[in-house]
Amino acid sequence: MRVLGIETSCDDTGAAIYDTDRGLLVHRLASQISLHRVYGGVVPELAARDHIRTLLPLVDSLLAEVPAGDPPVDAVAWTAGPGLAGALLVGASVGCSLAEGWGVPGVGVHHMEGHLLAPMLEPEPPELPFVALLVSGGHTLLVDVAAIGDYRVLGQSLDDAAGEAFDKTAKLLGLGYPGGPAIARAALEGDPGRFRFSRPMVNRPGLDFSFSGLKTQVRTAAESLALDDKEIADVARGFEEAVVDTLCIKCIRALKETGRRRIVIAGGVGANRRLRAALRERAGEIGADVYYPRPEFCTDNGAMIAYAGSVRLAMGAGSMTPGFDVRARWSITEI
Ligand code: KG4
Ligand code: ZN
Repeated sequence: MRVLGIETSCDDTGAAIYDTDRGLLVHRLASQISLHRVYGGVVPELAARDHIRTLLPLVDSLLAEVPAGDPPVDAVAWTAGPGLAGALLVGASVGCSLAEGWGVPGVGVHHMEGHLLAPMLEPEPPELPFVALLVSGGHTLLVDVAAIGDYRVLGQSLDDAAGEAFDKTAKLLGLGYPGGPAIARAALEGDPGRFRFSRPMVNRPGLDFSFSGLKTQVRTAAESLALDDKEIADVARGFEEAVVDTLCIKCIRALKETGRRRIVIAGGVGANRRLRAALRERAGEIGADVYYPRPEFCTDNGAMIAYAGSVRLAMGAGSMTPGFDVRARWSITEI
């Protein structure tokens, strides 16, 4: 079965075709970063309008790369939430219309389930069960994955998501948007010992996170500095170390509490090299294995939606006459 996947939940227009026998056939991404950069963050209405301009040509270019068929694919999957409502509506209405027009089933996919299953596209995918750390611009979640669709939230951020903390801190330091890659780049030159920011909530039991206080600590530190390139690098390094350390502490705690032997990192912040290296090392110390998608499939993409769609269709989801409801807010436990 060939599944076309469409992702438009935020500021990336993604599309891909996943073949259940042959794997990922083709994927494309059109980033809107340059469009939103001048505003220092995503402008929802501009995001939706750009998806409208970009999506159909992107799908056309994908179809041109695979052998022609009638219908061109056997099913269509799109991100139905959570995300920006206007942006979601574009992908959902296009996906739904294509499914109807081609006479194939269509299925709305949960964006975070897409992230969670993205490591399955790698050559050595994790076996179930596992613990997943989902860290994106909108979410910070630790999830116990007993089976596909059997998700238990172990912990989550009580305020800012990890990616949001990266983005806000980068803005504060004048590093621009998106903040995660900008902080990671600046931190390469930074002194890890100069700023020791706190590791929020690690001294309390439980697996929840809180990142807004960390951002305030950075603001306070930045106020008393001249913020030349060296100081920005040092602050960025201190901030990155604090977030990475906090995430690792909670991941190891989640592995110990659940008794799982595998952990998956996914979502945009999962592209962070220091996080990948640190978690691999610390999980190794307790005999657990770490899995993550290739960096381009950590951030938003169509491939993870095509794959998650194929999994959901195999489980009986999807419809020949799908509606295109979208849900801006949608818990992963409610799928
Ligand atoms: O999953 P994603 O592409 O979109 C959402 O669903 O939110 O995640 C985007 C987030 C942004 O906050 C971005 O700053 C962060 O992921 N990010 C990173 C890195 N690359 C992207 N954060 C830290 N280090 C990175 N290398
Ligand atoms: Zn995402």
